Amino acid sequence: MYGSNSKKLNKAWLHDHLNDPYVKLAQRHQYRSRAAFKLIGIDEQDKLIRPGMTVVDLGSTPGSWSQVVRRRLARNALTADEAKADDARGEAAQLPVSGRIIALDLLPMEPVPGVEFLQGDFREAEALAALEASLAGGKADLVLSDMAPNLSGVGMADAARMQDLAELAVEFAKTWMKPEGALLIKCFHGSGYGQLVKLFKDSFVSVAPRKPKASRDRSAETYLLGRRLRHTA
Ligand SMILES: C[S@@+](CC[C@H](N)C(=O)[O-])C[C@H]1O[C@@H](n2cnc3c(N)ncnc32)[C@H](O)[C@@H]1O
Repeated sequence: MYGSNSKKLNKAWLHDHLNDPYVKLAQRHQYRSRAAFKLIGIDEQDKLIRPGMTVVDLGSTPGSWSQVVRRRLARNALTADEAKADDARGEAAQLPVSGRIIALDLLPMEPVPGVEFLQGDFREAEALAALEASLAGGKADLVLSDMAPNLSGVGMADAARMQDLAELAVEFAKTWMKPEGALLIKCFHGSGYGQLVKLFKDSFVSVAPRKPKASRDRSAETYLLGRRLRHTA
């Protein structure tokens, strides 16, 4: 049963959604979700995605981050400006991929050409084994995690589940990412955030918070970027 508060929230969400420039842009650029522009915003600043890379996309459904990565990996011959113009046309989506994209989600995902999709729960050993098998002894250049649990509305519980996913993503990167690679994860700016920043600082040489323009101001959502693994004895 929805209370009047949640009705108000749904109305506010619908209003934002219908008036959201990123929703319209996503439709125009044939991205499956406005979330594409969060990764595009961060990548414009940090230049994370380059042709030839192996990229792991955790929490990939419905697939807009995979689409962004796919377009970026198909761009060996394009300059940055050409790539921007190309984004508007979505043409790189047709070009062959240089590199690999391995995507994982609890939910099914409509195929993205050139993206290897695995369905499974990242918290379970089975999903991890499938990812490892897919990497076939190789390591990722870039690990992305836009994973978010279904929110229960109970702040502490939601934050704890988000924290759990974030910590597992760091563990995964430490084992399955190249030492000079990068990990980008979604997290909440709230309880547990300081602890997560500490874990990042202990694990990566360079750590930066990111709040792309497409991430709504009133959302606690934020991103953490860690680059280059610290050597552990
Ligand atoms: C915000 S959506 C990701 C959107 C995606 N980056 C895109 O651009 O289309 C978060 C995703 O995380 C997935 N997820 C949450 N918990 C997960 C888990 N334990 N293992 C795998 N995927 C998970 C959800 O199923 C959901 O599809």
